[in-house]
Amino acid sequence: MSATDPARMTSSLDRLKASWLKDGWLRVSARQDEEDAKLLLSGFLYPTESGAQQRLSISGGHDPDIQYGLFNADHAYLGANAFETAIPLSDLSSDDVLSFRAFSDDLTDPIPWHQSWHLLPADDLPFPPHSSQQRISQQAIDNQWFHFAGGTFVHKLSTILEQYFSMDIAKTNSILDWGCGCGRLTKHLSEYSDAAICGVDIDSYNVDWCLKNLPRATFSLVDPWKPLPFEDASFDFIIGHSVFTHLSEAAQFFWLDELCRVLKPGGALLVTVMSSLSLLNDRLSEREMNNLLQAGYLDVGHQPDGVDEVEPGYYRKVYHRPEYIHHNWSSQFDILDILDGYADHQALVVCKKVPIV
Ligand SMILES: C[S@@+](CC[C@H](N)C(=O)[O-])C[C@H]1O[C@@H](n2cnc3c(N)ncnc32)[C@H](O)[C@@H]1O
Repeated sequence: MSATDPARMTSSLDRLKASWLKDGWLRVSARQDEEDAKLLLSGFLYPTESGAQQRLSISGGHDPDIQYGLFNADHAYLGANAFETAIPLSDLSSDDVLSFRAFSDDLTDPIPWHQSWHLLPADDLPFPPHSSQQRISQQAIDNQWFHFAGGTFVHKLSTILEQYFSMDIAKTNSILDWGCGCGRLTKHLSEYSDAAICGVDIDSYNVDWCLKNLPRATFSLVDPWKPLPFEDASFDFIIGHSVFTHLSEAAQFFWLDELCRVLKPGGALLVTVMSSLSLLNDRLSEREMNNLLQAGYLDVGHQPDGVDEVEPGYYRKVYHRPEYIHHNWSSQFDILDILDGYADHQALVVCKKVPIV
């Protein structure tokens, strides 16, 4: 009996968790093995509600050597849904973006596009030191994941902006990377747009690194509770990857107001939250889960990652439910969508600043 066998989904909470997987889930890790000159791909693809077997598509084609149905001990609750393969680098073009998606065998029931992954060609910008990368992630992080994840999250922005805002990223004038950390997303934004790109963060260590190493953007250190150093309506769009995932409710409301102020009317606020797939990823207690389901927002406490020296205790770990976001964020923003699994297990909240009429 697999960990996802219906017979084991006994409690109502387990049934609820299973329903969160109805659109399936694709997670990919891509690592270059220099010694063997291969690209190592691994991950899992959990089927959609129809149960149809999903297969990985690599830039539109299928690789016959992919091994499916493997068991992934790190995600035992997903059962035997892991895959892996190794592709000779000589079969791949290093100048193109490599895209990974999942489709059912008859191509009718894909895992949603927004869960796709994209490996961007290497650039000549330096990687931040491990000490910087550690400050933005508790998970194991290294240069390959830094490049793959950052590139993936930025690559998909063009389509999101086009689809929901009829906005051409290449023609935008001004972009804010709010909570830029050590520039994981910021460095890629300039590959898609000639806009003025600003990064801000409360972590002086990483802002200093960005200032010295990422010349295409400007960076500012900001205060956890003070307005940003920008005029009203300065930005066409704002990306905030994994920032609202770390804010108390009071800080969340302060920053929703402030981001709204600096965004142009009709502009796009694209931020991630920990939602359904994060709950499958993490092991919350039954009590915490019930609290989250009742309140729609759960703060599980301080994250001692060292990025909140300015105000120890400020940096937290929090979860959101979609109903809470629709209810509490909609005085300033139209919530156009909440895309589960856009950024690994995090969901992208697609918000449009309500234009003044
Ligand atoms: C998980 S890291 C993500 C960094 C970056 N967005 C990325 O994806 O690589 C969260 C970042 O948000 C920053 N941060 C937290 N609260 C903030 C705030 N109120 N304003 C700006 N940055 C903030 C932290 O210092 C940290 O660098």
